[in-house]
Amino acid sequence: MKVLGTSALTSTLVLLSILPQTLAVKAGDFRTCSQSGFCRRGRALASRAKEGIASWRSPYSVDPSTLSLSPEQSSFAAAVTSSLYPDVKFSLEVRLHEDGVARVRMDEVDGLKKRYDEAARWALVAEPQVSQDIKWTIGKTDARVAYGKGFELLVEFAPLRVVLRKGGKEQVVVNGRGLLHMEHFRQKAEEPAPVEPSEEGSDEQTVLKVENVRAWFEGESEDAYWEESFSGWTDSKPKGPESLSLDIDFPNHAHVYGIPQHATSLSLPTTTGEDPFFNDPYRLYNADVFEYVASATTSLYGSIPLMHAHSADSTVGVFHVVGSETWIDVAHSSAKSTETQWISESGILDLFILPGPTPADVFAQYARLTGTAPLPAHWALGYHQCRWNYVSTDDVRGVQKRFDEEDMPVDVFWLDIEYSEGHKYFMWDKKSFPDPVDMMNDVAAVGRKMVVIVDPHIKRSDDYPVYKLAQELDVLVKQKGGETDYDGWCWPGSSVWVDFFNPKSWAFWSSLFNPKQGSQWSWTDSTEDVYIWNDMNEPSVFNGPEITMPKDNVHYGGWEHRDIHNINGMILPNVTARGLVERGEIAKRPFVLTRSFFAGSQRYGAMWTGDNLGTWEHMAVGLKMTLANSIAGMPFTGSDVGGFFGNPEPEMLVRWYHVGAFAPFFRAHAHLDTKRREPYLLDEPYKGIVRDILRLRYSMLPIWYTAFRETSVTGLPIIRPHYVVFPNDPNGFALDDQYFIGSSGLLVKPVTRPDVTEETVYLPENQVYYDYFTNQAYRGAAKGKNIVVPAALHQIPLLIRGGSILPTRERPRRASSLMKNDPFTLRVALDNKSRARGELYLDDGVTFSHKDGQIVWREFVAEKEKKGKTVRLSSRDLAGANTATAVESVALATYDPQNSFARSIGGVRVEKIVVVGLISKPSSVSVEGGSQLQWEYVAGVAAGEKKEGVASVLTIKDPRVDVASDWAIVIKA
Ligand code: GLC
Repeated sequence: MKVLGTSALTSTLVLLSILPQTLAVKAGDFRTCSQSGFCRRGRALASRAKEGIASWRSPYSVDPSTLSLSPEQSSFAAAVTSSLYPDVKFSLEVRLHEDGVARVRMDEVDGLKKRYDEAARWALVAEPQVSQDIKWTIGKTDARVAYGKGFELLVEFAPLRVVLRKGGKEQVVVNGRGLLHMEHFRQKAEEPAPVEPSEEGSDEQTVLKVENVRAWFEGESEDAYWEESFSGWTDSKPKGPESLSLDIDFPNHAHVYGIPQHATSLSLPTTTGEDPFFNDPYRLYNADVFEYVASATTSLYGSIPLMHAHSADSTVGVFHVVGSETWIDVAHSSAKSTETQWISESGILDLFILPGPTPADVFAQYARLTGTAPLPAHWALGYHQCRWNYVSTDDVRGVQKRFDEEDMPVDVFWLDIEYSEGHKYFMWDKKSFPDPVDMMNDVAAVGRKMVVIVDPHIKRSDDYPVYKLAQELDVLVKQKGGETDYDGWCWPGSSVWVDFFNPKSWAFWSSLFNPKQGSQWSWTDSTEDVYIWNDMNEPSVFNGPEITMPKDNVHYGGWEHRDIHNINGMILPNVTARGLVERGEIAKRPFVLTRSFFAGSQRYGAMWTGDNLGTWEHMAVGLKMTLANSIAGMPFTGSDVGGFFGNPEPEMLVRWYHVGAFAPFFRAHAHLDTKRREPYLLDEPYKGIVRDILRLRYSMLPIWYTAFRETSVTGLPIIRPHYVVFPNDPNGFALDDQYFIGSSGLLVKPVTRPDVTEETVYLPENQVYYDYFTNQAYRGAAKGKNIVVPAALHQIPLLIRGGSILPTRERPRRASSLMKNDPFTLRVALDNKSRARGELYLDDGVTFSHKDGQIVWREFVAEKEKKGKTVRLSSRDLAGANTATAVESVALATYDPQNSFARSIGGVRVEKIVVVGLISKPSSVSVEGGSQLQWEYVAGVAAGEKKEGVASVLTIKDPRVDVASDWAIVIKA
C-alpha cells in the first residue's frame, strides 16, 4: 500500500518527528487496545480481576436441570445463566469428536439480536464427526468424560469452567480466571435498566450488591457501547455491545505459538509486562499496514485464531473460530505456565480444544477441522520473479531473455497492477501490453508460467464489464443501512467490492476466468498458463477506517462487516482458484497467491507476508513469520525476497535469496519506486552466488515436492521449527531461526545479519549431522549442543541429519518443467548406526491425476548388516504399501505401480549415489542380483565415530537403476 490519507499522513509525520526510527509505522492509523472500546473493556475486566475482590467469582454457571445428552452421549447441551443478568439466556453445547478434540459452543438465546455464528462454516472443511464411543458422565456439580491416553474433559457447572486434563494434570483451563463475558444484546437507554432482584436476594441490599458487582464486572460506564470514533471515523454500532472475553490458560506449558500474523518471534512474548513495545495484546484484524514494524503485536494482513501451547510432555491447541476483530493477551505467568485472554468484538464462543499430546497430533487434529493445503502445481515451487511493475510485454520478454542469457532458472514471471488499463483488472493497457497472449505464449514456450494480479476492488466505471456485471447481479458490499453499494477508494480511485459472502457472487467470479462458459463476459485475453495473485483482500480501502471497510458496512444476510472482517479475505482466492480449475478442457491445479487469510485459507493456495522492508530486521522476522504461518496450518508461505520497500545492498540481497530458497514460497518482489534488482543485474561475485542459490533450489525440488505431499496428507508443516521435530527438548522451544524441511532431515539456518562469516547451529540430539556442501561431520549431544559452521556470503548453514536419504536433480535447467525426465542423485547420509531412510514423491505436477493414483512414491532405505559392515541400499514402492490413511486412500485405493505416470518416467535413472559416513572402503559395490558398479571412495570420518571432520564419501557413478523401480545395491565391506 502506498497512498496515505491526509489525516493519516499528518499523524504519521508528527509521529515520525517524535519517535525513534524503529517505530516508523503509521502508528496513528491503527488502533491500540486502549483506542478500541471492546478491547479496553475486556482488558479492564482482566485487571480488575487481577486486583481481585474477595467475594468475586465468574457470574456464568450451567443450569444442570436443563442438561440434555445427545443420543450417542458424546455431546451435551445446557442452559447457562449469568448471575448478573438472570433474565438473559445463554446456551452451551460441548461436543467430543472422534479424535478427542472438544468443541465448546456458547451463544445468547432469544436475545434482542442474533450473534454471528457462521465463522466455522468458512473455516471448517466439513462438519466434524462426534465420537460414537466416548460418553459423558453427568454429576451434580460437573460433567466429565475420560478418553484416549489419559485425557479427561471436565465441565464444572458453577461457575462455568472447562478443563482438559492429561494424567490428572490440568493442560487447558477455560474461564479459570473468570474472564468469560458474553455481552448480551441490550436496548440503548438513557439510564441503565434496573436490576431484577433474584429470588433469594429480594431485599434492597442484595439488589445493591448485584448492581455493584455488575458495575464492577462490566465497568462503571457504558464505555463505547453505542458509538465509537477513531481517527476521524465514527462507527455507528447499530447492534450495541456484543463483545466476548475469554480466558484460556495453559498450566505447565511455558511456550505458546501461532495466532498469526504478527511480526514477532515464534514463541510468543508476554504482552502484559513492562516492555513498552509489547504491552498491547496481539491483534487479529486483517489490515494493510504500511511499512510495518519488524517487532510488534499489531495486526497484519491475515488472522488465524489458532494457538499451540507446548511443554516437554504435552502439546495442546486451542482454535477459537471467530471472524471479528480479536485481541489476545499472553502472560507467561510463571516459568512453567501461560495465561491468555481472548477478546473478540462479536460472534459466538466456538472453541475447539485440541488435546495433542504431541505436535504431530495437534497438526492432524487441526487438519481434520480445517483441511490441509492441497498439493500445488510443481512449477509453483520454482522461483518466481515479480516486481511492481514489468511495464510492457517487451519488458517481460526482455527479463526472460536476461535470465536465459545468465543461465538462471526461473519458473514464473509476475505482473503487478500496472498491466491493467486504469487499474481495471483483466483489461490490458493496450499501449504497453498490445500483445498479451503472444507474450504469455512466449513465456510458456520455455515451460514457464505467468501470474497476473487481480485485486478485489472494482473500479466504478461503466465501460468496465466486471463492474457492470457485479452491479447487475447486485452482489456488492453495501454501506451502513444496507441499501446503497459501498464506495471506497483504492488503486483505481472510486471502487466497489464484491460481497463474496453472497453465494450468487461465486459462479459470477469464477466464470470471469473461464471463456468456455456461456454468455457472461470473461477474460479471453489470457491463456491457461496464466495464474492469479489476489492482493488487497483484507480488504484494503485507502480512505476507510484503519485502511479498510467501515465496520457497519453490510454483507449478505445482513451481517455487519465487523462480524466477518477476518474471514472476508479468504473467499476471493477460493472462487478464483475454482475459476482456474474450471477454465480448461483438462482440470489443472490452480495457483492463487493471497495476502489476506483466515483459518482454512490453506485450502486455496499460497500466501506471503506482505509489504516488508529491505532491512535485516525484516529479513529475520519474515522467517519467523513464515514459521508461525506454517505451524498454524498455512504451509505454502514466504516473504518478498529483497524486501518490498528499499534498495537492498548486494550482501543483503544475496542473503535474502538464501532465505527465499529455503521457504516454501520463493518469490522476489519490489516496490514501484525501487531500483531494478533482478539477480542478473548484480555484479560478481554476487551474481554467481545467486545463480548457485537458484540452482540449489531447483536441484532440491524433489525434496520440496515430497514435503508438500506429506503436508497435503498429514497437515504437518513443510518447514518445521525445533519444537515440532524435537518436542521433548526444551532448548529448542524458543528456536525460530533454524528449522527442518519436511521429513527430509535437512536442517537450515539462513543468515540474516550483515558481515557474518560463521554461524552457530544448535544440534538437538546425539547424532551426526553433515554439512550439505562439504560433508563435514558434526556431532550433536544427547542434551543438545551448539556447533559453529562456516557461513561466508556464498555459504548457507545447511546440514543433513544423519539417517537421511535425499533425492535431488543436479542438472541446471531454465525451468522446472524441463526437469521432468532428468535423472536423480541420491545422497545417503548414514546415521550413528550406519542406517538411513528417505522418500521421493512424483506425479505429473499439473493435473489432478494423482488423486487417481497416477503417482510414484518411493522409499529408500540403507541398512547395515547386523554383524558386519556391508550396507544394503534399497528402493521400494511406498504407495502400494500405504493404502490405509484417510486422505491417501483417495489416491491409493486405485493405485497400480504400473500406472501411466509411472510408466511415463519409466526410463528416468538414478545417475549418481553418494554415501556419506561409511565405516571403511568397500570391497565391492553391485546391484543385487546384477552387475558390479563403478565407484570411488574418499576416506574420512565414519558416521558412528566420535570424531568430527570430513566424512568418508563413496560415489557410485552410474548405478544403472531406475528411480521408479524396485532395486537394491550392496556395498560390501
Ligand atoms: C500492495 C502489495 C504489493 C503490490 C502493491 C501493488 O502493496 O502488497 O505486493 O506490489 O500492492 O499492487
